Amino acid sequence: TGMFTFDPGFTSTASCRSAITYIDGEAGILMYRGYPIEQLAEQCTFLEVCYLLLNSELPNETEIKAFEHEITMHTMVHDQVNLFFRGFRRDAHPMAIMVGVVGALSAFYHDAMDIHSKADRQGCAVRLIAKVPTIVAMCHKYSTGMPFMYPKNKLNYVENFMRMMLATPCDEYEPNPVLVRALDRILILHADHEQNASTSTVRLAGSSGANPFACITAGIACLWGAAHGGANEAVLNMLLEIDNVSRIGQYIDKAKDKNDPFRLMGFGHRVYKNHDPRAKLMRETCHEVLTELGLHDDKMFKLALELERIALEDDYFIAKKLYPNVDYYSGIVLHALGIPSKMFTAIFAMGRTVGWVSHWDEMIADPDQKIGRPRQLYTGQTRRDIPIR
Ligand code: CMC
Repeated sequence: TGMFTFDPGFTSTASCRSAITYIDGEAGILMYRGYPIEQLAEQCTFLEVCYLLLNSELPNETEIKAFEHEITMHTMVHDQVNLFFRGFRRDAHPMAIMVGVVGALSAFYHDAMDIHSKADRQGCAVRLIAKVPTIVAMCHKYSTGMPFMYPKNKLNYVENFMRMMLATPCDEYEPNPVLVRALDRILILHADHEQNASTSTVRLAGSSGANPFACITAGIACLWGAAHGGANEAVLNMLLEIDNVSRIGQYIDKAKDKNDPFRLMGFGHRVYKNHDPRAKLMRETCHEVLTELGLHDDKMFKLALELERIALEDDYFIAKKLYPNVDYYSGIVLHALGIPSKMFTAIFAMGRTVGWVSHWDEMIADPDQKIGRPRQLYTGQTRRDIPIR
């Protein structure tokens, strides 16, 4: 391959050095800043995890109070941001609106996005983590023709999001701690995953010096695809389509058929060739939520468990090391919380925003940072001349 290594899909190219997240795909290990995901999911809140990803260390009590306060003070969007929504059809996909509206935030903070200023970078990180949930909730309200809900400062991050998303101005919102904890956990499990496609996109976009709102929007666009963040929505649609345990075999056969593009959604991963540790935590959370809501007989959950069992006993899935990934159970949890499947990928984006910003910040702070510029193997025409006309 001449001077370059040919590595389509970057299966064996390390694009950067990073101190944020560690994955051992053979052993099924995931750690943020050295802490195992299981411990973070059990013992921390999402905002503590955000602090950890951004600042390398878990916060002490004073630090987390200050961080929570700062995030809370930035949850509102500029009133003119509300106007963007009207430009979209009511049936627009929320990720289409996210790409437009989060990207448009670039236009509101011109004097606070000097990428070479640490303070500005932190300010942008806080704004993004604080405002993305508000925008996600607005997408949902807009699609259902309901009024936007303003953030409420006395609620915590997840409670505030659930209220903006699911309550109406006519209701008193009463947080249910089990459900709040479940969504908090979904966000923790999605917060970072080292150089996945959307994070690599954010880095590549940022490597030119583009502003962080624009870079995060590039990540949102990449996340939308069904092979990446779009999988959680696709899993639920797949389960709805299978509908009955008796039809599982048929779908497994479809997934194995080389001539059929169908894949078992929520199965397989580029890096994990063993259980995805996030899937196990997600399955536990799913069970807790369904029990809390009196839905232990939930048809979808039973179908998902049975499909998992059958796939994991099948030679095809064993040979190719295909296991359920984080998105296999997250859709069932979100569905039980009353969140429509169209919103699932936007909620993934909400959790991943902190990962994207942390990687962007790490890259900009690196003195050896260069513009990302892959090479290619040219396969086109050799030199030729236009015939004299
Ligand atoms: N169902 C059936 N066959 C599969 C599946 C699946 N879900 N996933 C992979 N395979 C097969 C694939 O056909 C290929 O077979 P062969 O070697 O005979 O050509 C082999 O397994 C390897 O697959 P690949 O596409 O070369 O592997 P990859 O690392 O490029 O793709 C993946 C990883 C996640 C895109 C893929 O497994 C997939 O499409 N899964 C379904 C979508 C999904 O659940 N995505 C969410 C990923 S986790 C959340 C996130 O981080 O976004």
